[in-house]
Amino acid sequence: MDIKEYRIGFIGMGTVASGVVDALRKNGGLISSRSGLKLTPVAAAVRRLDAKRDCNLDGVEIGTDPMAVVRNPKVDIVVELIGGTGVAREVVMEALRLGKPVVTANKALICEFGSEIFAAAASTHAGVFYEASVAGGIPILKALREGLAGNDIISIRAILNGTSNYILSQMGKGASFAAALAKAQEMGYAEADPTLDVDGGDASHKAAILASLAYGNWFHSDLVYTRGIRDMAVADMEFAAQCGYRIKLLANIRKDSQGRVNIAVEPTLVPEDSPIGTTMNAYNGIKICGDVVGDTMFYGQGAGRDATASAVLADLLEAGWALSSGTLAWQSGFTRFTGCTGLAPHSEAFSRWYIRFSVLDTPKTLAHVCGAIGDSGVSISSISHKPGADGAIPTMILTHKASRAQIEAAREAIECLSVTDGKVTIYRLDDLD
Ligand SMILES: NC(=O)c1ccc[n+]([C@@H]2O[C@H](COP(=O)([O-])OP(=O)(O)OC[C@H]3O[C@@H](n4cnc5c(N)ncnc54)[C@H](OP(=O)(O)O)[C@@H]3O)[C@@H](O)[C@H]2O)c1
Repeated sequence: MDIKEYRIGFIGMGTVASGVVDALRKNGGLISSRSGLKLTPVAAAVRRLDAKRDCNLDGVEIGTDPMAVVRNPKVDIVVELIGGTGVAREVVMEALRLGKPVVTANKALICEFGSEIFAAAASTHAGVFYEASVAGGIPILKALREGLAGNDIISIRAILNGTSNYILSQMGKGASFAAALAKAQEMGYAEADPTLDVDGGDASHKAAILASLAYGNWFHSDLVYTRGIRDMAVADMEFAAQCGYRIKLLANIRKDSQGRVNIAVEPTLVPEDSPIGTTMNAYNGIKICGDVVGDTMFYGQGAGRDATASAVLADLLEAGWALSSGTLAWQSGFTRFTGCTGLAPHSEAFSRWYIRFSVLDTPKTLAHVCGAIGDSGVSISSISHKPGADGAIPTMILTHKASRAQIEAAREAIECLSVTDGKVTIYRLDDLD
């Protein structure tokens, strides 16, 4: 077989990039014999020239100017791995302007500036590849674009943030949110500033990308209903477990009967013995339901040096094949299609719900609460109590399906009752059927 060589320029040589170089050193022979491509790292831009690098950079020119790497005539494919949306955006746009394919793992960049980037890629017939931006090592974008291309996607339910899943797994064993976060930081899963992970921003970027590919509209992450896990109490994990559920930070992407899409990322009770419910620690799990295939489930490491490098390698091969076959013009990164009719308002999101509050230990208390919930149009499926202190009884209610607007009306009604402590916690409940 003729082997074609493509030279790679890295923007950034940190965690993921060093994993890519390492894997190319280790599996280069295998990759060439399998693909007919030789991928050679030739240049890299970093911030600190004197920092120790976690890979063998023999033969790689290292500098501090990202644009010099992009414009280097020896570089055929640009790999953007610095993160952020400032310099990263400039280098990606410049590479595309020059007609060079770009591989990136940067979900924030793709999510915020996808439309501009894909338009640039289409106009210069360069390609944009971003498999590593969602769910790390799980080839989920390829699954959506290729493996499931013949399906109308009914729903996607997904754990897309390993850090918050690790924290929730620890809380399921009784740790407080603060203790679980500290452990996640100690294990290297959470950043010093964990905001994007625990407040749902990271998962919401990824959910917007998945929804865009599934439904053919480019959805901005502002359109995602987003709620993180910062307020999660161990009491909720315990109540959920008592009923056979676990709480996960779940992306819920689905099309309604009118063809409108709703995208939400929020703590959600899921059956503890389901594939999503058993996705623990820093792992990601994604359930996609298509009208032809039915349910499919994807599981694996959603982040980390080597898992993410695996996805970057797959993109490098795709970029190389497109270059060698002259099909780069088909790789703008995103193709619009008529997979949905628009967005459904969040107030119409239809689901079962979990409600927790404390009530006074007095006669007819529950009758008042159930009446308030019923008056909001929400039907109750089960109620359970726990022994409480000071005459206040922690109470949990699971509901049948109702809209988010109805459950919020029920919240207001319960909060107004004198028999409750005025604090109501509500989470979505998804039986994943
Ligand atoms: N880490 C993961 O598990 C993971 C998973 C999925 C996706 N991603 C995405 O992958 C991308 C890279 O993440 P990472 O964890 O590899 O990041 P990282 O370890 O922080 O590495 C960033 C690299 O970029 C370089 N850099 C930053 N600003 C620069 C500038 N202005 N000019 C030149 N070089 C600059 C840094 O140089 P110095 O080394 O000299 O500081 C470093 O080598 C991000 O978009 C991230 O969201 C990461």
